[in-house]
This record gives sequence, structure tokens and C-alpha cells, in this order.
Amino acid sequence: MKIAVVGGTGLIGSQVVKNLRAAGHEAVPHSLSTGLDIISGQGLEDAVAGADVVVNLTNSPTFDEASIEFFRTSMNNLLAAAEKGGVGHFVVLSIVGVDQVPQLDYYRAKTLQEEILTAGPVPYSIVRATQFMEFMDAVISETAEGDTVRLPRTPIQPIAAAEVAATVAEVAVGAPLNGIVNIAGPDVYALDELGRVTLTARGDGRSVVTDDSAGMFAAVPGDFLIAHGDARIAPTHYTDWLA
Ligand SMILES: NC(=O)c1ccc[n+]([C@@H]2O[C@H](COP(=O)([O-])OP(=O)(O)OC[C@H]3O[C@@H](n4cnc5c(N)ncnc54)[C@H](OP(=O)(O)O)[C@@H]3O)[C@@H](O)[C@H]2O)c1
Repeated sequence: MKIAVVGGTGLIGSQVVKNLRAAGHEAVPHSLSTGLDIISGQGLEDAVAGADVVVNLTNSPTFDEASIEFFRTSMNNLLAAAEKGGVGHFVVLSIVGVDQVPQLDYYRAKTLQEEILTAGPVPYSIVRATQFMEFMDAVISETAEGDTVRLPRTPIQPIAAAEVAATVAEVAVGAPLNGIVNIAGPDVYALDELGRVTLTARGDGRSVVTDDSAGMFAAVPGDFLIAHGDARIAPTHYTDWLA
């Protein structure tokens, strides 16, 4: 199968390319650094030409309001090119509970990305993942100040990026779901506790102060970022991943 992996140089995209190639598929990474710009459209027709499947693993350069325009423009451009190129399956990686958290600009942007896909002309699959274990450093940096890191008690169910990539690759070579598959890590932590576990494992002397108004995830009410129902649960525990 020929698979165009848009965002194929990123954290998830590069691993999806490896997994697909290991399974014998022709996976081609495309991104800014390979000459594709999904915002201007430069290189887009060539990138999807001849592809059976397009997997979109791009990310916005910012998580603020500008991310809404990023995902709107890029999805419209990508879907138009995919339709023109006769692509039979379009896969997007999204976030568990994304449509439940309109308070966050980035989550509204990702919800819009899903909506454009589901309303579009190409058969599709959406993989929704919980927060990547690899994302924890960025979360800690956001509210770190001197010797303390402020974090809210928001429930988080971290998953290893490698396990997200494996699921995306598997979904990409299957029949379009025209629906959503949810994947999550095996354990739920309050984010402040997750911060403590992380800093302790790294021998980082900073301490976590519980602050339900701190950082991006403070805006998330309840347990919307936790997988419910028939989500797939990946095997790797955060403490093992840290070790
Ligand atoms: N972080 C989480 O916990 C989490 C959870 C669930 C879902 N997700 C989703 O997972 C997806 C992938 O995330 P990631 O962390 O793997 O992303 P990433 O490492 O930041 O990679 C982003 C990719 O997008 C490409 N890109 C950015 N702007 C582009 C443009 N204008 N034209 C073409 N390519 C462009 C980059 O290309 P270059 O490398 O060439 O610049 C890179 O390949 C995101 O959509 C995110 O919403 C994330």
C-alpha cells in the first residue's frame, strides 16, 4: 500500500513511517522540511499523488487561537488534494475527549479538524489518543518557576507515543472506520501527582504545588481527558516508561 504520512518527520509521524515500512508498505513522509506546506498548499498535489492512504500527523506551531486557522486551512487543503488524487482513506490523530473541552483554543481547533474530515468527501478514520508521556516535559515547563512547578489535579491518562504510532499505523492499513477509535494509557493520574512522579524519577529537586488554576489543563473540567467505554488500553505504564 502507498501511504503519504503528512507530518511524517514529527514525534508520532516518524514512528508511523517506520512501522508502516516494517510491515512492507511504501510509507512516504511529507512535511515542511521535505518541501510540503499544508497551509500554502505548496507541494500538496505531489505529496498525495498515487497514495492509497493519507495520514495527517501534523501539528500547529502554537496551541493558542491561531491553531484554529492552522487546522481549518490545512484540513481543507489536504482534503481537497486527497479527493482530487482519488485517495481512499484519510486518517487523523486527535485527542480523547477533544469535543468536550471548548474552553481550550487548541481543543476547539482539533475538534474543527475532525469536523472538516467527517463532513468531507474522503472515507476516514480518527484515532483519538490521551496525552503522550513525551508531552509531560512541556506541561511541566509551562508553569515552572524557580524551584516550583504549579499543576492542577486534572485527571490524565498518559500513553507512550510509540503505542499511539503503532495504532495509527494499524488503522491506516485497515478499512476506513468512518468513525473514531480511542486509545489510552493504562493508568490515570491527577496531573499534579504525575508531575511529582516525573520529577522524582528524574532526580529533579523542584517540587510540585497543587494549583487548580495553573496551566493549560486547568481549563479542563472533570475527567473529560480520560478514556471511557470501549477505548483500547495500551500496555506501557508511565513509571516503566520513565525508568
Ligand atoms: N501531545 C499530545 O499529548 C497529543 C495527544 C493526542 C493527539 N495529539 C496529536 O498528535 C498529532 C501529532 O503530534 P506530534 O507531537 O507528533 O507533532 P510534532 O512532533 O510537533 O510534529 C509536527 C509535524 O507537523 C509538520 N508540520 C507543521 N507545520 C506544517 C506545515 N505547515 N506543512 C507541513 N507540515 C507541517 C512538522 O514538519 P517539520 O518537522 O518539517 O517542521 C512535523 O512533521 C497532533 O495533531 C496532535 O494534536 C497529541
